[in-house]
Amino acid sequence: MQRIDKIKAARLLLASWRQAGDRIAFVPTMGDLHAGHLSLVQEARKRAERVVVSIFVNPLQFGENEDFDHYPRVLDSDSEKLNSAGVDLLFSPTVSELYPNGEQNVTRVVVPIMGDTLCGVSRPGHFSGVATVVSKLLNIVQPDSSLFGEKDFQQLLIIKKMAADLCFSSDIIGVPTCREVDGLAMSSRNNYLSDTQRELAPALMRELRNVKKMIESNPSADFSQLTQQAANTLNNTGFITDYFEIRRSADLAKPNRDDQELVVIAAAWLGKARLIDNVRVNAVLGACPRTD
Ligand code: PAJ
Repeated sequence: MQRIDKIKAARLLLASWRQAGDRIAFVPTMGDLHAGHLSLVQEARKRAERVVVSIFVNPLQFGENEDFDHYPRVLDSDSEKLNSAGVDLLFSPTVSELYPNGEQNVTRVVVPIMGDTLCGVSRPGHFSGVATVVSKLLNIVQPDSSLFGEKDFQQLLIIKKMAADLCFSSDIIGVPTCREVDGLAMSSRNNYLSDTQRELAPALMRELRNVKKMIESNPSADFSQLTQQAANTLNNTGFITDYFEIRRSADLAKPNRDDQELVVIAAAWLGKARLIDNVRVNAVLGACPRTD
């Protein structure tokens, strides 16, 4: 595996691979890699002769009071994991390499509507930061396919829309969420949990699955009642629920009566960790109207 932190050197190597006829699959990350990240790498290896992973903790997507300064940076151990996973290139630019004129005045990519709902409400500017850095990385790597986790479902849809709207040639591929044995979605931020909080954390996934089951058994149920109950249960368990919603899985809009492809999606604080998760639902609708 090669390790490169300069854009120019990465472009040269990538161009030589492309010239040799190799397909390139790309996995952008912020590092502190776990089995979830490595499942994206495995999927990437199936799709291309060359796999590129980037590690870049992107200041543009963190709010002022968020964890940018404390986000774990463990490049050497990440590098070993990627080497063992068969990655060809680890691209790990510095902040000044990607934002040579500072982050403040950089041209930004904004994905409207989808970027302003759910996590976009409590993290204003976050998805514009994500869309901006991912578009820069896609322009540098120019992959045939790029892989993103369904755990960050809103991020995945936003990147798919951005790539379609801005005519990026890379396919954007979603990969299922990797979970711990007790069901908690793997995340670098799970390390912020105390032992007691870690035991409570799978309640988020349990409530999502519970609501999914209730929709499946009664697709005409009052959605706002279901989500309110789930949020109350989480709040009584020690979470502070940011949102708990049932949305249309194609575009995260509020569902109409006849929408069948849905996602139950939530974000909740547990101590210092903001956990997010989602489950997809296929609701075959009955005749009764929904009341929300
Ligand atoms: P990061 O949180 O490091 O995640 C990198 C990729 O791994 C994302 O596509 C994310 O959805 C995926 N991922 C994280 N946990 C996962 C899990 N448990 N199962 C499957 N996939 C998982 O997401 C980002 O970084 C950044 O926003 C980024 C896209 C790199 C832009 O800066």
